[in-house]
Order: sequence, then structure tokens, then C-alpha cells
Amino acid sequence: MKGVLLAGGTGSRLHPLTRITNKHLLPIYDRPMIAYAVEALVKAGISEIMVVTGGTHAGEFLRLLSNGEQHGVDRLCYAYQDRPGGIAEALGLAERFVGDDPVLVMLADNVFGRSIRPTVEAFGTQRIGARIVLAPVAEPEHLRHLGVPELTDDGKVVRIVEKPTDPPSNYCVTGVYCYDPSVFSVISTLEPSGRGELEITDVNNHYVDKGLMSYDVLDGFWGDAGESIDAYYTVNDHVRRQGVNLD
Ligand code: DAU
Repeated sequence: MKGVLLAGGTGSRLHPLTRITNKHLLPIYDRPMIAYAVEALVKAGISEIMVVTGGTHAGEFLRLLSNGEQHGVDRLCYAYQDRPGGIAEALGLAERFVGDDPVLVMLADNVFGRSIRPTVEAFGTQRIGARIVLAPVAEPEHLRHLGVPELTDDGKVVRIVEKPTDPPSNYCVTGVYCYDPSVFSVISTLEPSGRGELEITDVNNHYVDKGLMSYDVLDGFWGDAGESIDAYYTVNDHVRRQGVNLD
């Protein structure tokens, strides 16, 4: 399985910090944020990784990660996104790198307490369609900033709503997605959303509609360090006290 780490975007919710650097280079405890995402993939057994980034600080990723050896990556590639056209657009840049393999995509501002290896292994068996990771979130106000699944009584995903005014469940879609290689033909059919982006939620709803979407429910801590300055510090505190990507 190939891995794609998405580290572009504007990071506007962390302005002014992100006016002078890329969000994924900001420190989380003792390392730049992206180092934890690389570690998550390597610990899950993925050693061929593409980092997609953009903006004026893209070169710093090479300085930090180099060819990946020191981080346990066998093959590290980079892609440059000209403008922040959305998560699905960023993933589209990895098409040739992924080829005919399954792919795990991770938003590089997401941090997981426990290893994501069980999801990678489950998708290794599933092979077809898509698999996401849901996390329980109690506060509706928090859910309004995330992708939220509507679930049937027996737990099937009916649809996913991006940043819903009225969240249809108490779960959010975290930033880890597994796809078969058909994902690139799905991306090529997408239209930009109201905010002018190609949305990963539209990709996911394609698989939901086809009955090919599975999910795992997260066990342990999850944080989106790019969501707000408070979320950034919550993630920092958790990493410092308890560590992340634990087996
Ligand atoms: O964190 C989980 C949430 O991530 C999900 O619940 C949502 O469904 C999903 O849309 C996403 O929401 P965000 O509002 O957090 O997405 P954001 O725009 O912050 O982008 C997430 C990551 O993707 C970020 O680390 C940078 C990268 N990205 C984003 C854009 C818009 C790119 O690489 N290129 C882009 O053009």
C-alpha cells in the first residue's frame, strides 16, 4: 500500500503563525507536526510515501525529511500543489505515484494516539472501495467544523455531511482514508464545492452510494492540530504527556 500525506492548504485558522511557515512545520512537542504523520504511516507498515504540499515554504519539507531514510521511509516523493484547491485535488496529484496500488491518505495535521495499523490491515483484506476512521465527538459545536457521517441503526453509513449545521451523528470523519486505485477516476469527475475546493467528502460519498464504504471506530486520542489554536495546544499537551502512534 502506498501512503500520501497532505500538507498543503493555507493554514488560515492558525494565522498569524502560518503567515511565516507551513502549518505542518509548526512544532508539536519536540518535532515538526508532519513528523508524527510520517511516523504514523511507517508504523502502519507503509514505506513508500508522497508528501503533497504547496506555498512558499515547500522547500523546508525537503530539508526536514530529506529522502526519508532517517524516518524509516524507503521511497519518499514530493508533489507541489499550485493553489489550495482542496483535499481531493491534492490527492489527485499523487495519481502516477500510486499507480495500481491501494492508497492510504492522511491529513498531516491529524494526530492519533494509537497506531493506525489495524485500519491498514483491514483494508488489506477489504481491497475494494474505501475505508475511513470515525471518532466519537460529543460537542455539536465541534462537529460543525468536521465531516460527519449519518448512520443507520445497524451502523451503515448513509452519507457524510461536510461541516453540517445540524450534525447527523456524534461521530466525525478523521483525516485517514483508504482507497482502491479507482479513487483517481472519482476525483476526475468532481466539481468544486461552494468554497471552490474539490472535497474529499464528495469522494467518500461516491463510495457510500456504491455500498463500498467501510469504517473503523477510533480507539484512543484523535486531534486535528490545524483546527484552531486551542486544538493545536490540546494536541501538543497530549503528545508531550502521553505520546502518539502507540502500538
Ligand atoms: O481533520 C478532519 C477533517 O479534515 C474532516 O472531518 C473533514 O471532513 C475534512 O474535510 C477535513 O476538514 P478540514 O477543514 O480540517 O480541512 P483543511 O482544509 O484543514 O485541510 C486538511 C488538510 O489537508 C490540511 O492538513 C492541509 C491539507 N490540504 C488542504 C487543502 C484545502 C492540502 O494539502 N491542500 C488543500 O488544498
